[in-house]
Amino acid sequence: MSKVNAGILGMGHAYPSGILTNADLEKMVDTSDEWITTRTGIKQRHKADADEYTSQFAVKAGKKALQCAQISPKDIDIIVCATTTPDQILPSTGCIIQRELGCENAAGMDLFAACSGFIYGITMVESMIRTGQIRYALVIGAEVLTKYVDYTDRSTCVLFGDGAGAAVLGPVPPDKGILATKIRSDGRYEEQLYAPGGGTRYGTTHETIEKRMHYFKMKGNELFKIAVRSMADISAEILEKAGVTIDDVDLVIPHQANQRITDAVAQRLGVPPEKVYSNIAYHGNTSSASIPIAMDECIEMGKIKDGTLVLITAFGGGVTWGASLIRF
Ligand code: ACO
Repeated sequence: MSKVNAGILGMGHAYPSGILTNADLEKMVDTSDEWITTRTGIKQRHKADADEYTSQFAVKAGKKALQCAQISPKDIDIIVCATTTPDQILPSTGCIIQRELGCENAAGMDLFAACSGFIYGITMVESMIRTGQIRYALVIGAEVLTKYVDYTDRSTCVLFGDGAGAAVLGPVPPDKGILATKIRSDGRYEEQLYAPGGGTRYGTTHETIEKRMHYFKMKGNELFKIAVRSMADISAEILEKAGVTIDDVDLVIPHQANQRITDAVAQRLGVPPEKVYSNIAYHGNTSSASIPIAMDECIEMGKIKDGTLVLITAFGGGVTWGASLIRF
């Protein structure tokens, strides 16, 4: 078999129509538009209604990605749904998506890597495509984080939003597609960002609910420093692995967690602001969905075209981090 790389053939994204603005949050907790804007860059975030759930947005994004790639659902071999907020514990959201999209020949699964989930997903399927084990994969980052946000905790509730982004991956010539990719984790930082309730360790009891243990808890300030260092270092590593410099990269798309984190990563990498994409003002932090949403927006805006060299990098709870270098 001739040598192939795995590349992105089509993308799509979707999010709820509901919007939560900084002005709305001012009425809910002791915060201000000024604090949120200067500390995070966020102006609004999309928020699912009570009857909306993760797979609905994943399916919409997946359908668009399939149309864009002009690949039949029947040709998809695996669906990887990167999510921290699945529809339910069993079955996986990946299986729900498989059914709804009619991907009748596909395996379906969920991947838990918080905000790094999309990069974890494409890293996993990249080697499956490159070695010929599968031909086409659908990787979706999808989250309804606002159902896990404690709207009495001002330090987290202003940050998160909902949405989904999807990519169809398949074989491309060796000079295109994923040129280098790397993922890492460090479980010593478990309690920097976690939601301990509801699992096998603490279960779901009156006590866990009263203590609000099912909601996200975060030590934002400490995470900030680790996030900047991890994303910058792993990006430099994969650039070296691919034999390119940051000046060769046309566009950097970091996980959209905080504008100050994005600016600090760009500065450490020595990349000018015009080469760095940010949509944090409109979406907030959508965890595993943030990078594929941003990438698809860049495709729609013409910032990503045939030949564009894109560096994506993410950091999330776990902690997890990763980076991929992709030639479109
Ligand atoms: N409104 C007003 N004041 C606030 C708010 C708010 N919404 N939130 C916190 N404050 C206050 C704090 O109480 C504190 O007050 P004090 O000095 O009187 O104690 C003060 O603001 C400063 O708090 P810090 O936490 O030091 O603020 P910081 O500048 O670090 O910003 C933030 C907080 C935005 C959370 C930032 O640390 C951050 O973005 N961290 C990284 C988050 C991240 O990357 N997470 C991982 C990825 S997400 C995932 O995996 C799902």
